[in-house]
Amino acid sequence: MSFIVAIDGPAGSGKGTITKIVGEKLNLVNIDTGATFRCVALNMIQKNVSMNDEENLEKLLKEIDIEIKTNGKIYLNGEDVTKRIRENDVNSLVSPISVIPMVRNRLLEIQRKIAKGKDVIMEGRDIGTVVFPNADVKIYLDATAEERAKRRVLQNKENGIASSYNEVLAGIKDRDKRDSTRKIAPLKRAEDAIYVDTTNMNIENVVKEIVNIIKDKKN
Ligand code: DC
Repeated sequence: MSFIVAIDGPAGSGKGTITKIVGEKLNLVNIDTGATFRCVALNMIQKNVSMNDEENLEKLLKEIDIEIKTNGKIYLNGEDVTKRIRENDVNSLVSPISVIPMVRNRLLEIQRKIAKGKDVIMEGRDIGTVVFPNADVKIYLDATAEERAKRRVLQNKENGIASSYNEVLAGIKDRDKRDSTRKIAPLKRAEDAIYVDTTNMNIENVVKEIVNIIKDKKN
């Protein structure tokens, strides 16, 4: 039987960083579901398939192969796309394509398959509500949009990507709105998820709190 920790929350809430550290500490396989949506967006760019081209999108989804290695590297159809899926063209396309039912249904299948039989910590927007509604632990990470924009600019800088605070903030607000108002699987806190506001917390303290929550549930 597998043990499942679901971490949901908006862009920049710290999900990626926290999930990685907690996963390593507690020996849980880290699955970033946002990366699976990013792979679909990238594959659409590569194959020149537009959002309205249902026939080719269906074919692309049927053939797509996404792997998340234990070292965190992401492979799309055999190619390492770990860095490529964080670039601007993918950033702009990923939220719009994440509302397409065909895309969500196929990725739901892929995400459940990746987690099968493993002890996992899975991060996304709808893990505790849709992907694994019976997850052993559900956490909803949050922070103000301003704080999240600040973190994203810093993260971009570390990755050698130049970005302006105002543009990033506008992008985050836009994405929040789109992700939380879409009809299927919107970004929403599960009723039984534990809410953690990280606005005034450092990474170390968030990790500590989450490790404690998971350990409590395990015992
Ligand atoms: O976490 P991220 O920024 O890499 O996610 C990219 C996009 O994918 C985000 O705008 C919404 C979508 N997404 C989703 O709809 N459901 C998930 N479980 C994860 C991501």
